[in-house]
Amino acid sequence: MARKPIIAGNWKMNNTLAETRTLVEGLIPLVKDAKCDVVICTPYTDLALAVELTRGTNIHVGAENVHWAEKGAFTGEISAKMLVELGVEYVIIGHSERRQYFGETDETVNKRVKAALAAGLKPIICVGETLDEREAGKVEEVLVRQTKAAFDGIDKEELDNIVIAYEPVWAIGTGKTATAQVADETIAIIRNTMAELYCPKCAENRVRIQYGGSMNPKNAAELMAMPQIDGGLIGGASLKAEDFSKVVNY
Ligand code: 13P
Repeated sequence: MARKPIIAGNWKMNNTLAETRTLVEGLIPLVKDAKCDVVICTPYTDLALAVELTRGTNIHVGAENVHWAEKGAFTGEISAKMLVELGVEYVIIGHSERRQYFGETDETVNKRVKAALAAGLKPIICVGETLDEREAGKVEEVLVRQTKAAFDGIDKEELDNIVIAYEPVWAIGTGKTATAQVADETIAIIRNTMAELYCPKCAENRVRIQYGGSMNPKNAAELMAMPQIDGGLIGGASLKAEDFSKVVNY
């Protein structure tokens, strides 16, 4: 069974409602014949509009985070049930910006993954090393730790509903892309970890792993040609319909 490629945009903290309308309306015709799964992950405030605009198209909508509790006294947080009610299908969990600026830990990533799955959302779980960790030769150690923690207690049956995004922190928003070779080798570490956690066949057939970090129209084809890379998580280049569509149609 071949792994179907999946290209997702991570808008981060960008786009008002008016900008969302322009971007999504521009994007729809440009990606309608895409051979991969297409996802746009938007700020909470844009989700309802994004769902409405993409209804009946091949574009799926995701959020950029989710809280693990069902409800309660968590000021400023959003539950999985609230996202599902809007028609949201995917959710990014454990993005390095959340880990770096907002105290996200391996443990909270795992709690969010469990809550998302329980509600029927598809998590896009981000893992990746910092520059210091890479230079200290700790890439494997970090990725194995992050992956094992994220999947702690997650059933094999859920693998089809989960996407992993390998995002080297040093390549995010820096214009520095991991070479296709480095991205491929590093993703192999994650796939091997999944083989160990579940089974080699599961890791080979059912675990989709994206690359993220300055992926753009120029480098998408080369990255997507690598055997381990099943898609992309796109930041900056997802904010322009034309650029994002070129990545989608790599
Ligand atoms: P850039 O594509 O802007 O480097 O961002 C990558 C990213 O963080 C996607 O989640």
